[in-house]
Amino acid sequence: MPRPKLSVIGLGYLGATHAICMADLGYDVVGVDIDAARIDALTNGTLPFFEPGLDELLGKVLPTGRLRFTTSYDEIADADVHFLCVGTPQRKGEYAADTSQIDAAVGSLATHVRRSCTLVGKSTVPVGTAERIAEHFATQDVELVWNPEFLREGWAIEDTLHPDRLVFGVASPRGEAAMREVFAPIIDSGVPVVVTDIATAQLVKVAANAFLATKISFINAMAEVCEVVHADVKKLSEALSYDERIGGRFLHAGLGFGGGCLPKDIRAFMARAGELGVDQALTFLTEVDAINQRRRARMVDLTRELLADSLSGRRIGILGAAFKPHSDDIRDSPALDVASRLHRAGAHVTVYDPAALANARRDYPALAYAESAVEAATGADAVLHLTEWPEFRQMEPAVLGDVVRRRNVVDGRNALDPERWRAAGWHYRALGRP
Ligand code: UGA
Repeated sequence: MPRPKLSVIGLGYLGATHAICMADLGYDVVGVDIDAARIDALTNGTLPFFEPGLDELLGKVLPTGRLRFTTSYDEIADADVHFLCVGTPQRKGEYAADTSQIDAAVGSLATHVRRSCTLVGKSTVPVGTAERIAEHFATQDVELVWNPEFLREGWAIEDTLHPDRLVFGVASPRGEAAMREVFAPIIDSGVPVVVTDIATAQLVKVAANAFLATKISFINAMAEVCEVVHADVKKLSEALSYDERIGGRFLHAGLGFGGGCLPKDIRAFMARAGELGVDQALTFLTEVDAINQRRRARMVDLTRELLADSLSGRRIGILGAAFKPHSDDIRDSPALDVASRLHRAGAHVTVYDPAALANARRDYPALAYAESAVEAATGADAVLHLTEWPEFRQMEPAVLGDVVRRRNVVDGRNALDPERWRAAGWHYRALGRP
């Protein structure tokens, strides 16, 4: 039986990764996006973002001819399966998600589809969006399925080809059969499949991100308590982690979560719950968000304390700009939020990041930048470790010690070894630790 022909609509992080990985699995894939510059870049083998290994994979599949990119919906009209991967950012000035890209993409697809096919929603959406999408195709033979995506930036290929689970939200056996066919290579490798209704499938994604955000804020709330009783949140979290019911993953206390997903997803989930009349069910997420924001403020206060209660005119070297390591994504980055707050308080802030410098320079032009950790730290009164890249963890404290003005380090990610830094003459402080 011939393999289904695929289209991927929206070539951002999720869509580009999905298109490249499905082509690598042997499918014919056409990716469509309204951004012509993005289409040109991908066609020429250039990724518009940083993701370990993905540019090599793009370079490997392009010559096979199985993967093409276009701005024209005409070219995807004959696909058997369409994957909807457009973004759903937070609306300006509101908590709710902006679903205008979904509406535009679905509207375009509806005017081009000429044959029976499956539409697979992968975007993270407010529950109820799929039901609204289905109305666009009331007179066409389009089977709607929901298949949430759980990929993490930095691990996108691994999470796409070897996910923890596949979730298929279906309205009929035909939808399930289409999904089992298109995901056969992944299912055959032993990945568990959960088949459910479409509403549940939409909820799985936001529930997962809400849980992860809650877990991080839980341990950061413990860090707040640790700070006043001189306890050690790192040891606390280690001790908790041996309880298998709790587990140690996503239990690292520090500067908290950022990025294009967790913060906006918990806010959009709260907004949707309000619309549905169940806002009380999710009011705890307001607290999860507030704890996360307080960590950023605490980082600034801790730095001020270290510098004799004054930030004005102080030189601060910042290690990290990306919202997390192995990414150049600076959306809602805790590191750049702290850097900006320090800058506004009058400090001279110099930022270094192994991957996110270009993006940071573009969006935060008022800050100063350096091409290396040593350059960022030169002449500094304090060095702040805000994104836990391996190169910072492995750094020799004595090397930075030679260039700073004062050996003050604040570890916002609880990832440096305090013994090594103290042994090299540094005054080491961290969030949630004595
Ligand atoms: C997150 C989810 O982990 C993915 O499963 C999901 O698919 C994705 O959002 C999405 O919705 O598309 P991602 O945004 O790539 O993935 O980042 P995470 O790895 O979840 O990290 C989020 C933030 O939490 C980072 O700022 C990280 O530094 C922080 N974090 C993580 C902590 O502060 N402590 C931890 O213990 C773990």
